[in-house]
Order: sequence, then C-alpha cells, then structure tokens
Amino acid sequence: MVNVLVIGSGGREHALSWKLSQSNKVETIFTAPGNGGTENNVPLDVNDLDGLAEFAQKNNCFTVVGPEDPLAAGIVDKFNKLNLKVFGPSQAAAQLESSKIWAKNFMRRNNIPTARFEIFDDAQKAIQYVKSIDFNVVVKADGLAAGKGVIVCNNDEDAISAIETILVKKTFGDAGNKIIVEERIDGIEASYIALCDGNVALPMASSQDHKRVFDDDKGPNTGGMGAYSPTPIVTDVLAKKIQEDVIEKTIHSMKNEGISFKGFLYAGIMIQDGKPYVLEYNVRMGDPECQPITMRMNFDLYDYFVASVDGTLSSMPSLSWKEQFAVCVVLASDGYPGSYPTNDEITGFGSISNDTIVFHAGTKKSDGKILSNGGRVLGVTSLGDSLESAINNAYLAIKEISWSNKFCRTDIGKKGLSYF
Ligand code: AMP
Ligand code: GLY
Repeated sequence: MVNVLVIGSGGREHALSWKLSQSNKVETIFTAPGNGGTENNVPLDVNDLDGLAEFAQKNNCFTVVGPEDPLAAGIVDKFNKLNLKVFGPSQAAAQLESSKIWAKNFMRRNNIPTARFEIFDDAQKAIQYVKSIDFNVVVKADGLAAGKGVIVCNNDEDAISAIETILVKKTFGDAGNKIIVEERIDGIEASYIALCDGNVALPMASSQDHKRVFDDDKGPNTGGMGAYSPTPIVTDVLAKKIQEDVIEKTIHSMKNEGISFKGFLYAGIMIQDGKPYVLEYNVRMGDPECQPITMRMNFDLYDYFVASVDGTLSSMPSLSWKEQFAVCVVLASDGYPGSYPTNDEITGFGSISNDTIVFHAGTKKSDGKILSNGGRVLGVTSLGDSLESAINNAYLAIKEISWSNKFCRTDIGKKGLSYF
C-alpha cells in the first residue's frame, strides 16, 4: 500500500483523488492544498516545490501533479532528483503548455496540423501585419495566463486592441512579452487527452469542454464551464486521425528532440471540414474534462499512473470505460471569470442521488460549513444511459444546491445532442 499526494485544489484534483481512492493499492490520499471536498488537505501551495518534496519524502508518497504551474516550474525534475515517484511531464516537456511560441514552433517543424501564425514582440509590427492580411486572427500571450491570455478577434479593431492589451498594457504581465498572431479557425472544438509514458499514448475517453462563460458560447473564455464524455463529435475515424497525426506524432517528435513526454497530453482540437487542428497543448488533465472522464473509468487509475512513470504502458491492459455518458456542469460565482464574491455558505449536498458526484473546486470548509472560495465552485457530474439523461440528471442535482451568488450555463452537453 502506498500514500498518494495529489497537488492542486480544483475540481480536477478532487476527481483524481476520488478515483485514486478506489484503488486497493492506495492507503491514504493527501491533497495539497485541496479544497472543501478533498480529504487530508495539506496546507502547501502548489508552487512550494521544496515544501511539497519534503512532505512527499516524509510520508512516502507517490505524487500526482494536477495543474500546469508546478509542472512548468520543474516539479517533476526536482522530485526525480530526490528519487521521489511523481506522475507528470518534466519541465522540458511542459514547454508544450508553458510557452505557446515553443509549442507553435514545435508543431511547425514537425508538421503537426495547426493554424498558421506569426510571432511578435513589437506592437506596431503586429498591427501592421494584421492590417496586411485578409483573414481573422486570434492573439495569444506566449506564457501561462490561467487560460485567459487568448483573445479571439472578429475584425482588425479587435485584433489591434488585443495586441495593445497584451504587448502594451501588459495585462498578463511577462506572459505577454511576446505574442502569437494566428489564423482564426472556425469549426467545432473537442478535447483529446492521452496518457503517455514517453513512447506510448493511451487515449482517454473523448470529451468536449464549454469554454465561454454564457449559454450558446457567448461571453469571454473561462477555464471551462462544463464538459461531457464521450462526445459524438469525435468519431472513430477522427479519433484515429488525432491519435496518429497529433498525439503520436507529438510524443515521437518530442522523443526525437530528446524529450520524453510522460503524463497527460491534452490537445485542444478544432475540427474544420473533418480535419483536426491543434489550438493548444496542455500537459495535464483538463478541468472540467477530468470530472466526466474519471467518472467513466473502469480501471485502476493508480496502476496506469505508475506505468506512465515507469514507461510500461505498452504492457498494460487496454482501458475500459463505462458505456454511460457523464456530464459535468460547473457551478460558478457571479462575476467569474472576472472578480467574484467568496465566503457564501453552500447548502443542499445532502439530497444528491447516487448517479451524481459533486466535485468541489473553489470551496473551503469552515466550522462544519462549506463556503464558496473561488470562481468555479463546484462541478456537478452525473452519469446517464444517454447523453440526454446524463444532462437531465446533472441539472436535477443542481437544483438542490444553492448559495447566494450561484450561476451556471444551462446548455452543457447540448452541442452533442444534435449528433444523435
Ligand atoms: P487556447 O488556450 O490556445 O486553447 O485558446 C483558448 C480558446 O480560444 C480555445 O479553446 C478556442 O476556443 C479559442 N481559440 C484558440 N485558438 C484559436 C484559433 N486559431 N481559431 C479559433 N479559435 C481559437
Ligand atoms: N478545460 C480546459 C483546460 O483545462 O485547460
């Protein structure tokens, strides 16, 4: 039996802890810093690499890193040096997410399908470029900006204002020292996530996120307002194409460049005319995609994490998934993705039925109460025999839960329904 330390405090980390706790090889799960739903919380920041290493060493933990920041800061390299077992990519491999410019250049030199792009550090040159082209663009800050450094533009004015926001006003700080201006691709988005061990990539069940804050994909981008799995948008034919042309090509090209990719590789895909284009890489599980995906897992996730670390995924049995659909609706606090109130008491957890799990994200426990403590607060995740029934189950459960500033999208999963 081993102890597991899950690093992070979101819905993703609650879902990972929930699934790992079902393994008969796992003794105690610690979460750092965790949230109001996770057990055995350790009050260490995700960026306190020394403190986390010391804790893992003292408590003999296998460590699972949830979010991108510690991965980009080299937590895996640090733990490896100390002979601590840790699941996730190295700092070099994490560049796929930590520098969008690195990722775009990597895709360009390895012929991985992505939107054409130019890189700028000078606002005037970027503006000149935008005026000289006849297609719409997306302007992206190079570095990590908590999912907010991407501005999708409808015309030249939008693009000029985006360039100024990132390069001149420095709204995203140093993450915006350089920008990418890339062609806007209009199509359908899906998340494709695979578990990798440096050589082999086992695909997770397909999923689709809902990035915009309001119904019908209106309003600004967020970390994700809800997700469901599987998605009919990723047909078997398309899945094969993404697996071969994107995922396997990525890990093999990384290997050729001397970098072993271990951990979750997430490709944000835009599908246009049946062809997949990579919008972005993440080097971790998606949040909220993780919640419906873990709910459908019929295997011991801990075993697969160990195999990823040990490079033995090729000898593991193929992954088995519940036939059912799973839908996660994110409950957020008014104002998100901007500023929002916190410390509202949340009630109604007692009346949730068996086919639903309420994963916590921005919550904390205080005097036996659960209080809101973030923008995305809960991820209500339900199973159902059809996509429609999973959606209904999630929205029924949501009615039970209340706090004064709760809001959610009312159309999570709807995009998938039109395919049946
Ligand atoms: P990213 O963080 O790069 O995935 O961008 C966040 C969101 O911006 C994506 O989920 C898309 O909705 C949108 N986006 C990014 N790049 C493009 C693009 N080239 N064309 C259209 N939309 C995009
Ligand atoms: N849901 C998108 C992300 O995790 O980045």
